[in-house]
Amino acid sequence: MQTIRIAPSILSADFAAMGRDVERLTAAGADLIHCDVMDGSFVPYITFGSYMIEALRPHTRLPLDVHLMTVTPWLKAAEFARIGADIITVHAEACGDRIEEILRYIRSLGVKCGVSVSPGTPVEKVLPFAEEFDMLLVMSVVPGKGGQKLIESTLQKAETARTFFERHGLVRDIEMDGGITVENAPRVIAAGVNVIVAGSTVFGAADMRAAIAQLRGQK
Ligand code: DX5
Ligand code: ZN
Repeated sequence: MQTIRIAPSILSADFAAMGRDVERLTAAGADLIHCDVMDGSFVPYITFGSYMIEALRPHTRLPLDVHLMTVTPWLKAAEFARIGADIITVHAEACGDRIEEILRYIRSLGVKCGVSVSPGTPVEKVLPFAEEFDMLLVMSVVPGKGGQKLIESTLQKAETARTFFERHGLVRDIEMDGGITVENAPRVIAAGVNVIVAGSTVFGAADMRAAIAQLRGQK
């Protein structure tokens, strides 16, 4: 059983006070800071890019978990690695038939490499490349905005992947992103997920520290 880590998404933070909110998350016991980079093309909205990640770097010692919702993630990966990203995740849908090559390239930048599948993409599309990534990000909502409801059928993808990794003796993180609440987190964990992304649940809580602990399964 892997340790459960919580990666609050700063998509739900105050964009006018991002450094302060990253410090609040760090003080509240977060394990990673999940940074949603949206380009307005892969998804309808634009959030921020490498300048924001660079500006946040001095505000926390936690790993920066950069989720690239962009159409050509390989073009900017080196820049994100250079300015302090620790994990760079690309979408399978953006990589077409060059997934293997792109994942290898990201690892060559000296960061951990993640690959994400949107709800409509079968997890089997990326499992053959499991040697080339460190983390699988299963999207449990359609990427693009926070505050949506978790799509239950995506839990099965985490189960399939966990079984696959165990069968092949691979130690891999499985991250799930979208609609995770204190109520459904136990089922997400039971499906084999060990990295939980949560935006609304953490930022909407009266007590951020308690919400993070509850997501982890602590009282
Ligand atoms: C959605 C983003 C998520 C989102 C999660 O496209 O990738 O990280 O912020 O937010 P909640 O937890 O509110 O669903
Ligand atoms: Zn995300």
